[in-house]
Amino acid sequence: MATATVASAAETVQERPSAPIRTETSRRNRPAVVGPESGPEPPFPIPLSGAVQRGFGRGGKDLGCPTANLPDESLAHMSQITQTGVYYGYARVYPPEDAENLSGQDVKVLPMVMSLGWNPFYKNERLTAEVHIMHDFVSDFYGYHLKALVLGYIRPELDYISREALIDDIETDKRVALNSLARPAYEKYQEDPFFQSP
Ligand SMILES: Cc1cc2nc3c(=O)[nH]c(=O)nc-3n(C[C@H](O)[C@H](O)[C@H](O)COP(=O)(O)O)c2cc1C
Repeated sequence: MATATVASAAETVQERPSAPIRTETSRRNRPAVVGPESGPEPPFPIPLSGAVQRGFGRGGKDLGCPTANLPDESLAHMSQITQTGVYYGYARVYPPEDAENLSGQDVKVLPMVMSLGWNPFYKNERLTAEVHIMHDFVSDFYGYHLKALVLGYIRPELDYISREALIDDIETDKRVALNSLARPAYEKYQEDPFFQSP
């Protein structure tokens, strides 16, 4: 039964593991592109969907990187088949029919980076999936339906000695995601039927 599996998966991941600390050498040696040239390999692409929840609100304020948090049920499947870490792919927001706060550009299939993890820097007590869509939205979209297609893995989740070091790595994650998506075998997922309806 799908719901039982989801509930038990969420219950089995209650303890925050320790994460390695980002070092200067590992920061300098980051690749500009990740994932095979020929396109996503299993377990990718991984579909995710759910209503956007409020996080702690630190992403936008503290880090200059607003994130859309997905509900626990939507990430149980992914946490069973992959490790925690930073991922890239595409996402789309689906406003309810009567909503008028988003523009036509806001509701396109857009590039995203995603963190699946425990946010060791902030010592969270729960596993979360946070999607940062690389686009300037005209308005918030809490409660709206979000779909994401995860196409590849960027790096493990790390702990940081400073907020600036975390921001620096997130900026690199965004560039790596855009470079990695700008290849025909990845770009084509923007048109994937998965995104046609909520
Ligand atoms: C691309 C990306 C990479 C991230 N990498 C890490 C990481 O390595 N370690 C960490 O502690 N948090 C990481 N985070 C999570 C941020 O700490 C998190 O988004 C922030 O705590 C905001 O959460 P909030 O919206 O719930 O306040 C990452 C977030 C994003 C979007």
